[in-house]
Amino acid sequence: MIFELILHLSEVKVKTEYSKYLKITTHNIGLKGAKMDCMDVMKERRSVRSYLKKDVEEEDLEDILWAGQLAPSGGNLQAREFIVVKRRELKEGLVEAAFGQTFIGEAPAIIVVCANIPESSKRYGERGVLFSIQDASASVMNILLAAHEKGLSTCWAGAFDEERVREVLDIPKEIKPIAIIPIGYGGEKPKMPRRKPLKEVTHYDGW
Ligand SMILES: Cc1cc2nc3c(=O)[nH]c(=O)nc-3n(C[C@H](O)[C@H](O)[C@H](O)COP(=O)(O)O)c2cc1C
Repeated sequence: MIFELILHLSEVKVKTEYSKYLKITTHNIGLKGAKMDCMDVMKERRSVRSYLKKDVEEEDLEDILWAGQLAPSGGNLQAREFIVVKRRELKEGLVEAAFGQTFIGEAPAIIVVCANIPESSKRYGERGVLFSIQDASASVMNILLAAHEKGLSTCWAGAFDEERVREVLDIPKEIKPIAIIPIGYGGEKPKMPRRKPLKEVTHYDGW
């Protein structure tokens, strides 16, 4: 009864302090079907560096991968690839490749997002290198947001030895790993790190 009321309030998105509180509550208790506002997902997503020993459901993982694939791409070439890693020894290899960032190996699943450079370069030449990296990066962002919307935590890990990641996962040399994303149920709730005020980073009508 009370859950019905909560769901109802979050769906109609009544913008009062009270309904905001209720929306957060539905998300935190992992109520399936409780929709979060897009802006709330962006505000509340955090880089999480501790994970519980609880598996991620296959269905959720597939939805999250599909969110990655829904991202825009240069010429719609979708010049990106996803590698899902669950095997313990491969996760350990990725931790080592990421200079010992152990939290990566704690997560039950890891998605490594790669830029498929040849896929974009065959049409766009040198510009295709940048496009494929952008295609992959756009996917990374969708993955982080979709995971958060499902009550899962992630972290975009970009500090790694690219060559070592290629070795661990048998990635061809022309494919560029862009991000290692551990996914799991978070074991911490970090505060939002400071953002620069918009006026520091926004320019109007030129620099
Ligand atoms: C390109 C890129 C590389 C990153 N690499 C790492 C990393 O290797 N390890 C890590 O713990 N966090 C990494 N992060 C996460 C950032 O530290 C984090 O996004 C930032 O501190 C803001 O925090 P928030 O994501 O909670 O808003 C990376 C983020 C980006 C976008």
